[in-house]
Amino acid sequence: MRQVAVIGIGQTRIDEHWEKSLRELAGDAALAALADSGLEKVDAVYVGNMMSGSANHQQHLGIFVADWIGMRGAETFRTEAACSSGASSFRTAVMAVASGMVDSALAVGVEKMTDSPLNEITAQLATAADAEWEAGQGLSFVALNALIMKRYMHEYGWQKEHFAPFAVNAHANALHNPYARFHEPTSIERYLKAPMVADPINLMDASPTGDGAAAAVVVPLNTRVPTSGGKPVIVAASSAATDSLAVHHRKDPLFLKAANSSSKAAYQQTGLSPQEIDFFELHDAFSIMAALSLEANGFAERGQGPRLALDGENIPTGKIPIATRGGLKARGHPVGATGMYQIVEVVQQLRGEAVGTQVENARIGMCQNIGGSGSNIITHILRAGI
Ligand code: COA
Repeated sequence: MRQVAVIGIGQTRIDEHWEKSLRELAGDAALAALADSGLEKVDAVYVGNMMSGSANHQQHLGIFVADWIGMRGAETFRTEAACSSGASSFRTAVMAVASGMVDSALAVGVEKMTDSPLNEITAQLATAADAEWEAGQGLSFVALNALIMKRYMHEYGWQKEHFAPFAVNAHANALHNPYARFHEPTSIERYLKAPMVADPINLMDASPTGDGAAAAVVVPLNTRVPTSGGKPVIVAASSAATDSLAVHHRKDPLFLKAANSSSKAAYQQTGLSPQEIDFFELHDAFSIMAALSLEANGFAERGQGPRLALDGENIPTGKIPIATRGGLKARGHPVGATGMYQIVEVVQQLRGEAVGTQVENARIGMCQNIGGSGSNIITHILRAGI
């Protein structure tokens, strides 16, 4: 296998982009990544997306995007893994380049959610759960996570206010990210007063819907690029793992087994331990997912996820910074694009370009994208180039 590097990144602001079409959003991020890389063309374009068929009445996103950005003729297809569709496009690009089957690839994640009313989007999101056992019984993703959070609070004795620091950190970091959905800080008081969505999940526990796209260009490490190109960042590990689709089919619904398997494999590929990870872009779609991710990936003991945030260890100067550009909670969560935003943000940190929330001496960054309620999980570890 060849070693792979990211040499270009691009993203759009996450927002309600009513003036932009799906292809324009994807194209803006893709062309920005290409410009950053110094390449004009790539061999392959992989597009991560979850629900363009239902939300935008457009399938066949590979050629839809490739054609728009002038890449007609390139190999191209869409990758779908619910909310981990973005990371699935990146992993596909990494596997293709590492194997030697293509020499350069562009991974794009795109989702346009806000053209449809929220009740329709909620139903479409629920298609990523088990249609027969979960969605068919009326469970939305917020409701599924509310059940998990309620059980977690019962088992480990945490109170509602103990989850507030996750939202406070995410919103504080997003203030410095011009691409983030929200640019207003939040506080423990605002968290406690936020309207309830599905008890115990309130507005400040939940990621918002949004429209956005993010992209990255990968090539074999040490490829000479025609112009300056972005500073290369090495893809040190890429790993995917799965668990049952339905939450109730798990022996222990409070342990993200697939996250654990996926990061274990990534740690093995790099020879690193969790203590050597400088920051972690985690999948904080709900604050309970942030807590469970910290535990499953070796950053906190079982049942102790909220402790790190309460102790201030998750802010950019803490022991294990998370959501450094706002995370899903405040940067936003345009589902099929999110995994690519995480990649872009890890690259920004490792290049020293994370203005306002730069993690000091960041050399190794990890990101993890979760599809479904913990059922399909993809982890990447990136390392700063020389
Ligand atoms: N956090 C903080 N503020 C939020 C927010 C969030 N998650 N979502 C919306 N807001 C704010 C908006 O900016 C707006 O503020 P304003 O009145 O000052 O302009 C206000 O709350 C209402 O916004 P609106 O877009 O009408 O929210 P909504 O009530 O329609 O939707 C949720 C809010 C949380 C229900 C919706 O975003 C949601 O369903 N999120 C979860 C999506 C999901 O399940 N994703 C998949 C995860 S795996």
